[in-house]
Amino acid sequence: MGGTRGIGRAIAGVLESSGHAVRAAGRGDVDTSDPVSVARFAAANRTTDILVLNTGGPPPKTYAEVTDAEWSKYHNQLFLGMVTLLRDIRVRNGGYIFLISSAVVKEPTPRLAISSAYRAAFTEIFKLASRELAARNVSCVNIAPGMIATDRTRELLDDMRVDPSTFPMGRMGEPREIGEFVAAIVDREIKYLSGITVTFDGAGSAHVF
Ligand SMILES: NC(=O)c1ccc[n+]([C@@H]2O[C@H](COP(=O)([O-])OP(=O)(O)OC[C@H]3O[C@@H](n4cnc5c(N)ncnc54)[C@H](OP(=O)(O)O)[C@@H]3O)[C@@H](O)[C@H]2O)c1
Repeated sequence: MGGTRGIGRAIAGVLESSGHAVRAAGRGDVDTSDPVSVARFAAANRTTDILVLNTGGPPPKTYAEVTDAEWSKYHNQLFLGMVTLLRDIRVRNGGYIFLISSAVVKEPTPRLAISSAYRAAFTEIFKLASRELAARNVSCVNIAPGMIATDRTRELLDDMRVDPSTFPMGRMGEPREIGEFVAAIVDREIKYLSGITVTFDGAGSAHVF
């Protein structure tokens, strides 16, 4: 899911061009903020070999600015919806699950309070799942992007007046780089890299792990 734009579309595109049959779902196929829509999607898509858990991000706000309605919506969108999809879509033995989370799971950002809270919560569940699914040789990789050049990020940076040329690599990451990373893991059958959270941020963070 989240396969129609940005990072998700890049993953779908690279997997497709390396010969995988891809179903790139957008908000029209499943709205992860709506439990009924999520249940319907999971019932219609019971099994797969590769599952990419991805959805839209929340608005940038400090925790004090977030309304109760927003907490509730993004609890569904970023946490409950993801838990349901992870639980109810069966990934076949030897398959892969990729989560697109955010670098905020390792370093919460004041202006990204919703994302920091719910992505950290789901990262814990994803880790638990990786330990269970290892027995069936299903590998789980949590990709935690920093600044990746999608339309949404460009808008955010413009609003915040942040210049990507000041980043360590002098640029944002390209969605294609995440797509190539995912395809390399799948196509080269790298299985033992499971249960990990990979910060994908061009050396933007200061933490070691
Ligand atoms: N790009 C970055 O720099 C960055 C950094 C850290 C974390 N992230 C997170 O990584 C994820 C992907 O980022 P992106 O920049 O690729 O986002 P994007 O370009 O905004 O694409 C979002 C994708 O999610 C889908 N989507 C939006 N709302 C949805 C909903 N309620 N239910 C189901 N699908 C929904 C969209 O479908 P439609 O096309 O149908 O709307 C689209 O395919 C987001 O959660 C984002 O917050 C991104």
